[in-house]
Amino acid sequence: MLNIKENISLKPFNTFGIEAKGTYFVEINSPQDFLELLITDVYKNNSRLIIGGGSNILFTQNFNGLVIKNNLKGIELINETTDEVIVKAAAGENWHEFVLWCIKNDFCGLENLSLIPGCVGASPMQNIGAYGIEIKDVFYELEAINTTSGEKKIFTKNECEFGYRESVFKTKYKNHFLITSVSFKLSKHQTLNTTYGAINTELEAMNVVKPTIKDVSNAVIAIRKSKLPDPKVTGNAGSFFKNPEVSKETFERLKTTFDTLVSYPLVNGNYKLAAGWLIEQCGLKGVENNGAAVHSKQALVLINKDNCTGSAVFELSDYVLRKVFDKFGVTLEREVNII
Ligand code: FAD
Ligand code: EPU
Repeated sequence: MLNIKENISLKPFNTFGIEAKGTYFVEINSPQDFLELLITDVYKNNSRLIIGGGSNILFTQNFNGLVIKNNLKGIELINETTDEVIVKAAAGENWHEFVLWCIKNDFCGLENLSLIPGCVGASPMQNIGAYGIEIKDVFYELEAINTTSGEKKIFTKNECEFGYRESVFKTKYKNHFLITSVSFKLSKHQTLNTTYGAINTELEAMNVVKPTIKDVSNAVIAIRKSKLPDPKVTGNAGSFFKNPEVSKETFERLKTTFDTLVSYPLVNGNYKLAAGWLIEQCGLKGVENNGAAVHSKQALVLINKDNCTGSAVFELSDYVLRKVFDKFGVTLEREVNII
């Protein structure tokens, strides 16, 4: 039974903790709920916003339309061989709890993505990534419903066109699909990925000699807790900007002037720059704008320091963009979805 509410505060539904109102609000608990919703006048006559955990959105104004909170639950093992499993999780499952469930069952592949906030259904949106892994590395397929026709569609990995913090769901199919479940191909062997230096350092500090996937998960959790603000305490949406990709020429020009530039070579010959470093070099750590601030431990994260508005965060992000451009001639791109 659909319960469409009116004039709801969206503050509990975004990790920035920004006050904004939604004209209409509904929670869906099954794909059938969504199909019922699709034929209502409220759905047909309004713009729509699908949300999971609200950990990658910034409300800069009230949402004048229908907010659809995805609550689809369930985890299923859909195939198993001696080496691999395919696990399917419904879109409303909490991401970190799903990762812990995989670890408990000794299914290897998602442990580096521990403690990322939000729901399973949003994970393909920006091909979430951390500590050397992106979901595209273990993605099998996803199921979605067309938000106009109600038709079900299965997307293969190729069809998702995953890139760094990108997929078709952020570009050509933006708002065209409700993702209902995501399946992952995970290994039954403990093949660990500890290429990200900080993981090994953390494992050593934990005195772990022969790490398991649980140890890697614990190391990732410890690193994340040391750098990133807990949204339950301080509102934020993780990295506010993407790490920019620049040409070899730009990289070489910058490196000549800024010899401590933090960069990573890419296979296409370009370089990725650490946006947090660029922002810090502009002296912006801790800088505030009407209650919004640049996080003092990680300059890539903007925080709701003191009951700020979404516009204050957005203005601050504009200021950061300008400062970084003025100093380095590099344009940052926002990662967070601005509403
Ligand atoms: P929401 O914020 O609710 O939605 C995000 C976008 O996806 C919106 O455009 C929304 O409309 C759309 N959407 C959501 N669900 C669906 C659905 N079922 N179908 C269709 N569209 C949908 N991200 C990383 O990649 N790596 C990190 O390491 C990382 N660390 C973070 C740390 C912190 C402290 C925080 C607060 C955020 C971090 N993030 C990170 C960002 C965020 O957690 C991820 O992007 C996450 O996947 C967002 O999930 P969500 O359910 O909260 O999505
Ligand atoms: N750095 C600084 N100053 C800062 C922040 C970072 O100099 O204020 C330097 C660090 O010293 C390090 C480099 O920048 O040399 C990279 O920093 P970090 O390892 O913290 O990672 P990041 O590039 O800032 C990215 C992702 C995170 C992800 C981590 C770990 C993006 C936009 N962000 O952050 O993802 O968790 O790597 O893999 O790619 C997110 O997307 O929301 C997110 C948190």
